[in-house]
Amino acid sequence: MRPTPPSFSRADFGPDFVWGAATAAYQIEGAHQTDGRGPSIWDTFTHGPAWSRARENGDIACDFYHRYESDLQVLREMGFRAFRFSISWSRIFPEGTGRINEAGLAFYDQLIDTCLRLGIEPWVTLYHWDLPQALEAKGGWTNRAVIRWFSEFVDCCTKAFGHKVKHWMVMNEPLVFTAGGYFAGIHAPGRRGPWNFLPAVHHVAICQGEGGRIVRRNVPNARIGTTLFCAPIDPHTPAPRDVRAAARIDALGNRLFIEPSLGLGYPVQEAPLLKQILTKYAKLGDLQRATFDFDFIGLQNYFRLVVRHDWFTPYVWAREVKPRQRRVAEITAMDWEVYPEGLYRVIRQFSQYEKVRDIVITENGAAFPDRLQDGRVHDPQRVNYYQQYLQQVLRAKREGFRVSGYFAWSLMDNFEWAEGYRPRFGLVYVDYPTQQRIIKASGHWFRDFLSA
Ligand code: BGC
Repeated sequence: MRPTPPSFSRADFGPDFVWGAATAAYQIEGAHQTDGRGPSIWDTFTHGPAWSRARENGDIACDFYHRYESDLQVLREMGFRAFRFSISWSRIFPEGTGRINEAGLAFYDQLIDTCLRLGIEPWVTLYHWDLPQALEAKGGWTNRAVIRWFSEFVDCCTKAFGHKVKHWMVMNEPLVFTAGGYFAGIHAPGRRGPWNFLPAVHHVAICQGEGGRIVRRNVPNARIGTTLFCAPIDPHTPAPRDVRAAARIDALGNRLFIEPSLGLGYPVQEAPLLKQILTKYAKLGDLQRATFDFDFIGLQNYFRLVVRHDWFTPYVWAREVKPRQRRVAEITAMDWEVYPEGLYRVIRQFSQYEKVRDIVITENGAAFPDRLQDGRVHDPQRVNYYQQYLQQVLRAKREGFRVSGYFAWSLMDNFEWAEGYRPRFGLVYVDYPTQQRIIKASGHWFRDFLSA
């Protein structure tokens, strides 16, 4: 497929629009036992009996821990001036709480300094799914004490780096790690059932608000956000029960974490399952604590969901009609539908909340079956993907929706959680046996686009 050249240029997005690439600690750093890092739930999960992908884990990953300087140079070469990365909690607190590992702080300090020296703005995510295992042993996100543990971690990071880092994101896709890790059991720590999921959701929602407040207190002039999974949801048929199923999935998928942060509580009407949070786990004042006035909301969109009513799926009573069943025009290596308009639709949907002040696309991208041939990676599908999705961001901006930045997922191929190393999301190809980096055609496209 030959991509058609886009009908827009960087200038159309305005001079202040932020262009960056995103990553997460466990997916790229490796060095899992280096300099006093403690184990996280993903170390335990990927070395445990339920894990089926032998030798696929974050032990080495992209070895970013040792290669960050040259990786940041590559990022710069592609024209990006913002880098989103996360801090590994168990590098800083190997036991999750209490003792601070100075070497862990030193690593991020050097990483941040290197960003600044190269003229790259660091955008820091505080929690990208890698809870210290020591805390999981005490119940993890289902234990209310996590509010205290998380606050201690955020306090430490913001005191250490707040004088250099101005962009902070409290959570990364809370829906995905609570649903994947505490409901479906396909992500670490592999727990299942609403009795794990619902308290985890509630404690994460409180931590999201409390985390925001701690950043505000410790970092003068900070721009504070949190990043959310989002997808446009369509009913498979116009039948009322499919329409209700779509509204339920929208409540659970899109609204679950934004609404408490805006002071709107949980969307219990469309998703009655959530009522149990209020009857079983919430204490007086909790909904207030979950509220925070974020400077921006990070939206992360990859696909749309088409759903139908289903009696056989307990608790949610809905199931996805997969893209292959719908015979969509194009799907990615994750079996996700390429649906560019979806990005426009989620921007529009989240802009409808009066209190959402600004939106940043903190992740968007795609995995395709890339091949290294003669030292190059020709990935026209990804070039096309980015062009089409960016066109929709521009459409939203032109219609007056506030969107102030875009981060591609991801800087480089990395450990794709439950899917291991097969899906490649990078603008840069990583040859894992040699750890060589090769900028893909899509990375070259960004370089040309951003330098124009
Ligand atoms: C996550 C990333 C992940 C990406 C692609 C997002 O859900 O934040 O860590 O790699 O999607 O699946």
